[in-house]
Amino acid sequence: MKGIFPVDKFSELQTPFYYYDTKLLRETLATVKREIGKFDNYCVHYAVKANANHKILSIIREAGLGTDCVSGGEIQASIKAGVPANKIVFAGVGKADWEINLGLKYDIFCFNVESIPELEVINELAAAQGKIANVAFRINPNVGAHTHANITTGLAENKFGISMEEMDHVIDIALQLPNIKFIGIHFHIGSQILDMGDFVALCNRVNELQERLYKRQIIVDHVNVGGGLGIDYEHPNRQAIPDFAAYFAVFAQHLKLRPKQTLHFELGRSITGQCGSLISKVLYVKQGANKQFAILDAGMTDLIRPALYQAYHKMENITSEELIETYDVVGPICESSDVFGKAIDLNKVRRGDLIALRSAGAYGEIMASSYNCREIPKGYTTEDLI
Ligand code: LLP
Repeated sequence: MKGIFPVDKFSELQTPFYYYDTKLLRETLATVKREIGKFDNYCVHYAVKANANHKILSIIREAGLGTDCVSGGEIQASIKAGVPANKIVFAGVGKADWEINLGLKYDIFCFNVESIPELEVINELAAAQGKIANVAFRINPNVGAHTHANITTGLAENKFGISMEEMDHVIDIALQLPNIKFIGIHFHIGSQILDMGDFVALCNRVNELQERLYKRQIIVDHVNVGGGLGIDYEHPNRQAIPDFAAYFAVFAQHLKLRPKQTLHFELGRSITGQCGSLISKVLYVKQGANKQFAILDAGMTDLIRPALYQAYHKMENITSEELIETYDVVGPICESSDVFGKAIDLNKVRRGDLIALRSAGAYGEIMASSYNCREIPKGYTTEDLI
């Protein structure tokens, strides 16, 4: 064991691979459960897009969470993990007919609808199946989140959602469609949000919107505020479990729910992010003109976040206690963006050492690709290695 890692067990496994600390995942889920348990009308749907590994999904289902899906594949993964269909929400700006049909077949809890043409197609397909589809409208609140431009979604310029102005018109249409039941409103402003003020701004927008609906004597049953709570990538051990108490408190304090309304959350990163690490082997240590490179067998195909979002993942040499040296840590892919970090301090690195890239449990394994004909890394949990 070095730190949280069963390093002795790792020697039998082919690198690179993802390792999931299921004790931490269970503790994280227990914290979420405890915190939402303080309110009788809060409900969390885990955002499957963050990590759809079957073992991870099964643990999340055991904890009683529902899921937030953005594709037919994610609905299937949820059902396979035993998630009850009445806890599944289905979002996404471009739902294909087969995906809508799948949701209808299972009688999922709700479709988060993003446009009028989509609403009309859902109505048609529901009619063909003799069903009524529950829908919530995803409203674009035009609230900026202080996060990377590629992962902010709640601004008017983004492709997501229906504008506040358009909403009345969309509701008029929905109320006329026979196979549609309008049950809620949905929002999501972005991801990796650490400034609680952004969520306060969202609450204020939701309150405004609810006032407008109320003037039309509409009180929806469900309000869904999406996900977005961030994690501490710099210090994965310091606060391994995000401050869910503070997060839910923002909504308890600032959101004016009407009696009997249920509040839904779609948390992804904050649930699985810290429990996963990408474990990789050092292939070579190469001396450059004025620096040294640690060349890993993992690359951007295994963990794309640094290349795509300039994201930082803390790195540790989990097989060395030697004095610290500084390295540029890179992968083997033929792309100059295949760099995990520059000027990274690590215990002296030698060929064959194992490097852990931390906080990779969300948007890690699931975003892996087979570019360069590489294999998709496997994922192992603590239980797999006992
Ligand atoms: N709900 C909706 C409608 C979303 O679009 C997302 C994430 C979530 C919930 C979950 O957000 P979370 O709680 O995980 O922040 N690949 C990027 C993140 C993309 C997030 C997309 N939407 C990354 O690696 O940072």
